[in-house]
Order: sequence, then C-alpha cells, then structure tokens
Amino acid sequence: MFFCSKKRKLGYKRSILYIEGYDAMSFIDKEKIAEIRDQADIVEIISNYVTLTPRGKNYFGVCPFHDDNNPSMSVNREKKIYKCFSCGATGTVFKFVMDFENISFVEAIKKVADMVGIPLDIGKMPKEKNHSKLYEIYDLSLKYYVNNINTVSGKKAKDYLHNRGLNDEVIKEFQIGLAINSKDTLTKLLFKKFNKVDIEKSGLVNKSPYGYNDLFYDRIMFPLYDLKGNVIAYSGRIYDREDNSKYFNTWETEIFKKGELLYNYHRAKDIARKENQIIIMEGFMDVIRAYTIGIKNVIATMGTAVTKEQANLIKKMAKEVIICFDGDEAGAKATNSLIDELIEIGVTPKVIRLENDMDPDEYILKDKDAFKNKLKNTMNIMDFKLSYLKQGKNLKNTIDEAKYVNEAIKEVNKINDDILKELTIKKITEETGLDEEMLKSKLKPKAIINNKLKPKPKVKTNKYETAERNLIYYMLRSPEVIKMYNAKVTYMPTKEYRLLAREIKMFFNDNGFINEADLIDFVECDEELLKTISKVEEANLKDEYSLEEIEDYIKMIRDYNVKNETERLTKEMKEELEPLKKALIAQKIIDLKKENNNV
Ligand code: UTP
Ligand code: MN
Repeated sequence: MFFCSKKRKLGYKRSILYIEGYDAMSFIDKEKIAEIRDQADIVEIISNYVTLTPRGKNYFGVCPFHDDNNPSMSVNREKKIYKCFSCGATGTVFKFVMDFENISFVEAIKKVADMVGIPLDIGKMPKEKNHSKLYEIYDLSLKYYVNNINTVSGKKAKDYLHNRGLNDEVIKEFQIGLAINSKDTLTKLLFKKFNKVDIEKSGLVNKSPYGYNDLFYDRIMFPLYDLKGNVIAYSGRIYDREDNSKYFNTWETEIFKKGELLYNYHRAKDIARKENQIIIMEGFMDVIRAYTIGIKNVIATMGTAVTKEQANLIKKMAKEVIICFDGDEAGAKATNSLIDELIEIGVTPKVIRLENDMDPDEYILKDKDAFKNKLKNTMNIMDFKLSYLKQGKNLKNTIDEAKYVNEAIKEVNKINDDILKELTIKKITEETGLDEEMLKSKLKPKAIINNKLKPKPKVKTNKYETAERNLIYYMLRSPEVIKMYNAKVTYMPTKEYRLLAREIKMFFNDNGFINEADLIDFVECDEELLKTISKVEEANLKDEYSLEEIEDYIKMIRDYNVKNETERLTKEMKEELEPLKKALIAQKIIDLKKENNNV
C-alpha cells in the first residue's frame, strides 16, 4: 500500500485520489469519496461482516482485526468511524472493508459504492510510468512461453508434466509454459516491440559483451504473480537435463520483490476468506498439487523465510492459518520460525507435519485421503513445539531434560492463549514428573507477554503531552484552533503529534474545512497516523472549548519547546571555549526567553 501514502498528498491537492490499478493509474474524485461515505450507513455496512449490538450511542462487536472474543470494537454512526479499543484498529467504512476483504482502498470504495447504489466511474490515467511496460513485457513473454509448450518442441515438457500427474487443465490454469532450448528467441521477440531500457529492466534477458540472450532456456516456466494476479516473474524448472539449480528464478526487478508476494495469493484469497482457512506450503508444486484434489485455499512461501509483510498478508487472509511445510528437517525448522513470526502478530497457527520427509506434493500423490485427514486433524503449535524441541535430545539424560524444560517454558511464554498454556504445562509435568506449580512459577506475568497486542498500559503522560493531545483534539474540530496553532506554535515536541498536526494543517489548507472522517480518509493508508488519531480521540473531551483553554495548551507547548531549546543552548554554551561565541549563545538564550514572554 506504499503508493497510497505517497500519492495521497498530491491526490488531495488536485481534488482527486490517484490509484495505481493493475492496468493503469486510475482516479476518483474526492468529493465522490465523501459522498459515498456519507451515504453509507457505517453501522449497516459493518453489520454485513460482524454482528453489532447497540450500547448507548455506539454499536459494539467483536473486532475482526485481532484475535478476540470480546466486543471491543465500537462503531459510531454519526462520526462515521469504527474503533477497536483493544488493538487500536480504526478508520472509516472504506478502511474497514479494505482490511476485512483485504482489498485496496479503491476497491473498497467501489465496493461500498455498490452497496449504497452510487454509480462510480473510475477514470483512467494515460499509461505511462508505473512500470506498465514491464507488465506488457511479461504479458508477451507469457504468451510466448505458453505457446511453446503446446508446440512440437514442447512435447517432452508436456510429457514430464503429465507424468507428474498434471493434466492439461491444470497446466492451463497455472499458465505453465516452456522456454525452449534457444539462445535468444524471446529476446528477439521483445526487441521488436520494446526498447532496450525496458527490456533490461524486465530481468528476462542477459546482457553480455556479444549482445542480449534469453535468461531462461530449456526450462519449464512457472509464472509468479503479484498480489493482483499479474505475471511479474518466472521460476523455471529443469526437466530433462542436469543443472546446478533445479529451479531458477527471475532476478528481482522493479515489479518483482520476492518478500512481498505469496505464490497463488490472488487465486486463494477469496476462497480462504470464505472458508476462513488458509494453508501455507513451501513450494508452488505443492500448491498446484493441492489444487488437483480440490484444495484451493493454499499459498506458497517459495522456500524463503517469511517477511513481516508476508506474515501480515497471511493474517488478513483467514482466521485459521495452517502451516503445511515439507516433512524434512528444514521444513520443521521453517515451520518453527513461521509460528514465531505469526505469534508475534497475534496469529496462533495450526500445524501439519508429513512423515518420511515428504513434501505435500508427494504426500498427496501417494494418498490424498490421508492428506485430507491431516487437514482435519491439525496439530496445535505447542504439540509441534514440544516435539520439535525434543528432537536430538535424550530426555533420560538430565542435562538434556533440563534443557528441554527450559526451552519449552520459553515457548509457553511466547503464546497468548491461557488454556493452551495450562495444557502445555500439564504435558511437560507428565513428561518430566516435575512439579506443576514450580513450572508455573517460571511463567512470565501476563502483562509482559505480547505487550505489542495488548492495549499499552496507561503510561503517565506528562502535562506537555496532554496539552499537545488536547490541542489536536480541538484542531480536529475547529478551524479556529488550527489557525491559532498555525500562528503561535512552532512545532509539537512529540513526533506522532507533530506528524498529525502537519496533516491537519495540510488538509485544512487544501480544503478550507476540517472534519474527522474526511481526515481519516485523507490519511487512510497510514496506520501510524490513524493510531495517533485514535489516541487523541480517547481524550474524550467536552465539545465546547474556551479560548483561554486553547491558549493555555499553546503556551504550555511553547514553554516546553523553549525549555528544551534553552537546555540545548546552555549545554552548547558550556562546551564553547571561545568567549565571543559563548556570549552570542548567551544572547540567543535571552532572546528566546524574551520572545516567548512576549507572545
Ligand atoms: P523444493 O525444492 O521443495 O521444490 O523448493 P518442490 O516444490 O519440491 O519442487 P519439485 O517437486 O522438485 O518440482 C520449494 C520452493 O523453493 C523454491 C521454489 O520456489 C520452490 O517452489 N526453490 C527451490 C528455488 O527457488 N530454487 C531452487 O533451486 C529450489
Ligand atoms: Mn517436490
């Protein structure tokens, strides 16, 4: 979503929101966005996804954006925003739909527009920049590779795939193609239509002193897709010769960043959402194999460690996350890392382990019903962890046993589920005969665990921070206060407030009014700013303010800035050896104090 926050400011200045779509840049009139939001009843729309019950002025429901059973999300019809008191998720109806459906901001606007029956025309910007040439190059290369496999030269490759149990339907669905054994057929084809710069950028050709060559030859080509389903790279597999690398991938390019994509995401996303379950495998062959037996809520990590970004994508796909990596030692290790990565962001996955070092592809081929059974009887993470920790240890050996228990306790401390904790402690007790209470005393007190997810314990905010927060609270409601801020405060000392105040100023300068819901849409893609807004709203101050009150806040912030600046200058002065410079700094300090008293 990085493009959104970058484009946002530009978009608002010109009263339109720019969107990078998959075929071109698109735009929506910002008035239209406001109209849709105002027409949409946020309570009604969120009710399509989550059961809401009225309580007082607000509606409450279970927040779908973190693991919870309590109704900690409130929806406010008048303000047109929702807010979770537990995980801090907040935003307008678009943000909700965007995150719930895991679609882009624009897709969410479209969806809400449909729901409320407002026709929405998304304009198209001319195709330029934005890598559209690269996508075109990939379109052409895909046609070329797919055509190859259906010709006489593709017979051997086809046979290989058929022998692996992939029929023509699957080959077509996954757009599997072939790079023939030729030096530069694709290169020549590309040079007929595209320029050198774009072709080089595509990562599909090799440049040598003698000219350009195809990067892939004599390999079966598996297209890799971005999250929207555009082909952006290939993984080529050898099939009838020896080579150092079984698979060979396109280099990373402007449009292909391995850590940002998950294989098959675009096909699996809707099904995973419907079934509320997503299965993660290592290889794309595993995914393709799962498809052949009708399991379609699968994605692959493609054999690399999962990045934060990918973990967050997985989290959004479905509530039930099942890790089904290769059965070998490496697969167990990767499972262990992914579990930790997911726990870290509040997801408790389930695990499938396959016997005899098999990967899902081999396992399904051998016995598909056994695989389906495994899906129904997944392991909980702690059972996996305990058996993983036991590997290579002899529990009859005291040193090994102590090591095992210590490591196991460490793992128990990572999880958030009280019942699972208790059950795991019981298991360790049974295994080792150690005293249960003693083991429990090794657990960290609850508050420290996963403090990233729990609402932060109320830190004592100092009076300056309170002044900043309260000032912003009223800036969000009154142009008058924004103007006073502009005139009298140089800057907010606390970074998060400073950034938000800047956005408010910008919004007001561009639009001439201020309104919380509009501002939230304005900063839609910026989680940090949304969090700050949500924090400010927690102040829950009375609606009316007096000018003295605002002036007090401003004075307090100014005093604080002056105090900090004075301290800094005093320190500088002390370190300064030259008398003249020393005097100059002293004068600066005096001026600063004088100026502050005169405001
Ligand atoms: P695997 O080695 O498990 O491949 O790598 P696989 O799924 O069993 O494939 P087949 O059955 O031999 O055809 C898992 C993933 O790691 C990446 C690929 O994305 C693959 O899907 N990989 C593997 C590479 O990128 N390069 C390699 O040399 C090997
Ligand atoms: Mn395999």
